[in-house]
Amino acid sequence: MNKNEVYETIYKETLARYQTRYFELGVSPQTLGWGKTSDQQERFTALINNYAFHGETILDIGCGFADFYEFLKSKGILCNYIGVDIIPEFLACARKKFPDAAFIQANFMLESSRLPRADVVITNGTLNFKQTLINNMEYTSDFMKLAYEKADKAVIMDFLSTYRTKNYPKEEQVFYHDPSEVLKMAFRYTNDVKLIHNYQAIPQKEFICMLYSN
Ligand SMILES: C[S@@+](CC[C@H](N)C(=O)[O-])C[C@H]1O[C@@H](n2cnc3c(N)ncnc32)[C@H](O)[C@@H]1O
Repeated sequence: MNKNEVYETIYKETLARYQTRYFELGVSPQTLGWGKTSDQQERFTALINNYAFHGETILDIGCGFADFYEFLKSKGILCNYIGVDIIPEFLACARKKFPDAAFIQANFMLESSRLPRADVVITNGTLNFKQTLINNMEYTSDFMKLAYEKADKAVIMDFLSTYRTKNYPKEEQVFYHDPSEVLKMAFRYTNDVKLIHNYQAIPQKEFICMLYSN
């Protein structure tokens, strides 16, 4: 299989996984693979505490139901939000809820060239799934490269950490990223990097990596 065929197959698997959950659970954090709304809120709070989103154009890759946009609005943070996802049902819900935002159905790994540039390219939870057809770090590296090409000011990515929460069972379907490896990857692009690994475990330990464009 060449790279395009790999990404095409991953796309089909991802589509099937989320659509199955959506038809079972509807609009809920569990459909997205999150435990509960408060977990998402912890992550979003860490994001706004570490980046000034106000006034920015944000390209949210794997936006789901655009819960991050809802959070920003609830905090009075006004921005130009563009959500991207592969799941038409998620985008239909998001469009209905947020007619003031833009939404694009696209597979970022294969169709990033037709997406607009933005001040900030962000992704939350899109890289957590353990891949079988490609090494996860290669997948993450390809993602980071495409995201950095699209961003005028910053790329923001979140990951589940190899420094796991004690006593929380390891999940077989999940890929845990080593923060030092992600940091090394980020330094290929810029010396202006921030790694946040000290927010509340939710319930697994996560981290956020921010790359600032030069
Ligand atoms: C764990 S969910 C997170 C949703 C949202 N970011 C949030 O925090 O609530 C991951 C989302 O990424 C989307 N996704 C996965 N791979 C993608 C890709 N290659 N291009 C665009 N979206 C993708 C999935 O469809 C899913 O909606």
